[in-house]
Amino acid sequence: MESVPTTFHVVKSPRVVPASVTLVPTLLRLDSSYDDDATSVSRALTGTFARAWRASGPDRTVVEHDLRTDPVPPPGHGALHWAEELRAPGVVVPAEAEAAHARVLDELLAADVVVIGAPLYNYGPSATLKAWLDHVHVPGVTAPFGGDAPRPLRGRRAVVVAARGTAHDGDSEAEGRDHALPLLRLILGDALGMDVHVVTVDRTLSATVPTFAGERARFERRFAAAAAELEELAARS
Ligand SMILES: Cc1cc2nc3c(=O)[nH]c(=O)nc-3n(C[C@H](O)[C@H](O)[C@H](O)COP(=O)(O)O)c2cc1C
Repeated sequence: MESVPTTFHVVKSPRVVPASVTLVPTLLRLDSSYDDDATSVSRALTGTFARAWRASGPDRTVVEHDLRTDPVPPPGHGALHWAEELRAPGVVVPAEAEAAHARVLDELLAADVVVIGAPLYNYGPSATLKAWLDHVHVPGVTAPFGGDAPRPLRGRRAVVVAARGTAHDGDSEAEGRDHALPLLRLILGDALGMDVHVVTVDRTLSATVPTFAGERARFERRFAAAAAELEELAARS
């Protein structure tokens, strides 16, 4: 857990990124399931993590951002992918697009820990989570570009709760068809330098689709194990 800020990194763009910005420990809970609480497995588990995290210390704040009801628009200009000094000369980014981008970045930068509900949709992340990722990976601001760029999120914990309808274990037909987790690891881990923990739950469709009902017991065992793992992880995050 990072403490009260004492130092600030001034990056080359006008944005000033605090090394740690929160006076109280803050968790960002980001959900991206297209379902609501009644049926979403990832929401149930990000909720488990958030409750356990809040109970693990005094004055802990949870910021909830539901991308289903409050989606972020995709970046309003390609130049937003870059720190200002890396943008092509003469590019004009609409102020509204710049403001929407800053809101997404600031919300993440203000969090000490982030838990992300990440369902697998058509072999990739939800469209809403992809839009969010397109905002937060910014070479020269959150990710390195050249030798000396700061990485303000480096070392912060990112917990990814992956919910997948079918089995993606070693011997399953779907092995290798999850393109969401590699992307999340690349961006959050390799680029932003966050400390990424992934918790997966497979066979979620066994709870609702009769064809998969035979897998229900395995799903329930995995769900219980994932909940326990997240509670334990929250206590040390
Ligand atoms: C549009 C859509 C596409 C899906 N594509 C896949 C897929 O490619 N692989 C898979 O295993 N499950 C797939 N599923 C099932 C979801 O991964 C599963 O229902 C998961 O539990 C969703 O997360 P949630 O329970 O948090 O809503 C898909 C579901 C939807 C709605």
